[in-house]
Amino acid sequence: MSANKSNKSSTGRGLVNWIDSRLPVFSYMQKEYGEYPAPKNFNYWWNFGAILTFMLVLMIFTGIFLSMQYTPHVDFAFDSVERIMRDVNYGWLLRYLHANGATFFFIAVYIHIFRGLYYGSYKNPRELLWIFGVLILVLMMATAFMGYVLPWGQMSFWGATVITNLFSAIPLVGDSIVTWLWGGFAVENPTLNRFFSLHFLLPFVILGVVVLHVITLHVSGSNNPLGIDPKGPQDTLPFHPYYTAKDSFGLALWVTIFAAFVFFAPNFFGEPENYIKADPLQTPAQIVPEWYFLPYFAILRSIDFDIWFIDAKLGGVIAMFGSIILLFLVPWLDRSKVRSARFRPIYKWFFWILLLDCLLLGFVGGHPPSDHVFKGIEWLLFIDLGHIGTAWYFFHFLILLPLLGTVEKTKPLPTSITESVLNGDTSSSASAKSGGSM
Ligand code: HEM
Repeated sequence: MSANKSNKSSTGRGLVNWIDSRLPVFSYMQKEYGEYPAPKNFNYWWNFGAILTFMLVLMIFTGIFLSMQYTPHVDFAFDSVERIMRDVNYGWLLRYLHANGATFFFIAVYIHIFRGLYYGSYKNPRELLWIFGVLILVLMMATAFMGYVLPWGQMSFWGATVITNLFSAIPLVGDSIVTWLWGGFAVENPTLNRFFSLHFLLPFVILGVVVLHVITLHVSGSNNPLGIDPKGPQDTLPFHPYYTAKDSFGLALWVTIFAAFVFFAPNFFGEPENYIKADPLQTPAQIVPEWYFLPYFAILRSIDFDIWFIDAKLGGVIAMFGSIILLFLVPWLDRSKVRSARFRPIYKWFFWILLLDCLLLGFVGGHPPSDHVFKGIEWLLFIDLGHIGTAWYFFHFLILLPLLGTVEKTKPLPTSITESVLNGDTSSSASAKSGGSM
């Protein structure tokens, strides 16, 4: 599609032209979306940016309608949610879309992040793009954490109490910080109010950071499964219609799976305890966060020993926040010049081990230390799974990544995307042609 021809068709005549000559939104869209030169070898892992954008819009949309019926007061919050479920027209649908939406948003974002780690999408010149990504992740976590408190069930209340209390581990000022966060001396009405307010605000902040994320993407151009730069127009395709079609297909598949949960297993990811109204005098048998926080929760708990003058609680808090902060530094910790793991035979293995490690941490985080199954495995392997999982996480990022950059012998890179796709570069052609596997 020539630029001239498509300009003519999209900016056309009449009203569109009139607006565009005063506010060039249409030409901007045409340039940044319609004609955006995307590498022609994207596989399906490149669908997740579009899927995430869809999820963000869905969360904001359903959230706005839920907030019209929700009451942010400790005496009414729980009942207002029940009312949404029973009496508000399609309230159940809004709520189930929103609650399961959070889960699917996190599944998509973790896939998106691991895609970036596999293909080295964080490397020069995409460092800032990556930093905005990690910032989005942090904001998503804060938003999800506060959102979970709003139904004012048992897990809402006790989760909020445990997590906010972590700040009391900070020496000298810790207790004052906790009082300040709560707006009182316990998780109470002022806490619920501010959590609601921030839970409403933060998604719009996320939206703003996503815009910056995509702007930085368009300045550097997209990475691709080979991790090499396009050599010219022969290596790229205009985003529309090629990737509009591919993204739509992936999105349709995604929405189908999502809808299956919303309609047939809406409480699959939920916590039964949260259908009991918050009771500050009754602690639940086990306080567990939502599944997407479990690996961090495992890291927090695995520091169960004092390190020099840092006591165990503070150590756990530092390790937990450290495990996220660390992600900001990945572009500088990985010193390899080669981006894609396809050409990094050793890194490729460690990538999969890291993925397994994160799943292991999730498993550990979801079990109380005294759990029978959990102890059984530990006894069998003679190790403490939480300690091993946490140690490996930090070892991967702080030691392995910098080390591999200097010792790993990488495979030769193809000379161009086109050559690799058409001529069958042994290490990449098969999967690039099928557009499928990593
Ligand atoms: C609301 C959450 C997010 C949205 C809506 C979003 C959106 C997008 C979109 C539309 C793209 C281009 C399409 C694609 O490559 O899939 C993209 C690329 C990218 N995103 Fe995100 N993103 C989000 C979160 C994140 C996070 C948490 C990270 C990392 C920590 C991240 C890192 C990246 C990177 C490195 C790329 C470049 C991909 C490449 O060219 O290889 N994103 N994102």
